[in-house]
Amino acid sequence: MPPGVYSGDNLITWGRNNSALGDGPFCEAWKANLQNDADHTILWRRYVLACAGYHCVHLNGDFVECGVYRGTGIKTVMDYLGGRAFPKRFFGYDTFDYNPVPGHAFPGQEAGLYEEVISRFDGYPQVRLIKGLIPESFTQGLPPAISYLHIDLNSAEAEIAVLEMLFDRVVPGGIVILDDYEWSGVYRVQKVAEDAWLDKRGYRVFPLPTGQGLVLKR
Ligand SMILES: C[S@@+](CC[C@H](N)C(=O)[O-])C[C@H]1O[C@@H](n2cnc3c(N)ncnc32)[C@H](O)[C@@H]1O
Repeated sequence: MPPGVYSGDNLITWGRNNSALGDGPFCEAWKANLQNDADHTILWRRYVLACAGYHCVHLNGDFVECGVYRGTGIKTVMDYLGGRAFPKRFFGYDTFDYNPVPGHAFPGQEAGLYEEVISRFDGYPQVRLIKGLIPESFTQGLPPAISYLHIDLNSAEAEIAVLEMLFDRVVPGGIVILDDYEWSGVYRVQKVAEDAWLDKRGYRVFPLPTGQGLVLKR
């Protein structure tokens, strides 16, 4: 990309600093974890997660991702923040081997994916990957306090279930990232449901140009 220009993930900007590309440790973590074409395009989205992680690692509470797929989101953040020495537990919840959202199966979501993702985290004992349907799978284990919560399920119903179960566990100053919040079209139902849920509790989502939404817990 020419200096100052960003183009990817339905986002075109110019005259910007492209801070992600100036952050050497992030670029290293990002490149080390690229697995497919989609991973290349979502650099800015990943940097939002990395910066949220950088903030949350200083708070009480563990990290949680709902919707893990191959674990690239988790591993990029962990590798940015110490890799094997990452100082928190990181809980990841997914069905892994199939996608319960109709029409949303990703390449490789078949028997064996869970084991593949587990082996990707060899040497990362902080990671707990919990296989099963959210929210039922939360009975297999949940951290009592959460500082970082990334919700990426492509389903309004499941994402609201996560908010119901986990939002109160997010510590003051903690961050919730809603991956699809600012995407329109078929994703818009998520924003509509999340706005209604959060409005009742006096929260407004920061809509990000990456398509994500950010909630700062108090
Ligand atoms: C977009 S992918 C997650 C990508 C990942 N966060 C990343 O950054 O690379 C969405 C995932 O959510 C999972 N998922 C959707 N609904 C779910 C549910 N109710 N319970 C468990 N997993 C679910 C799918 O199986 C899929 O792997």
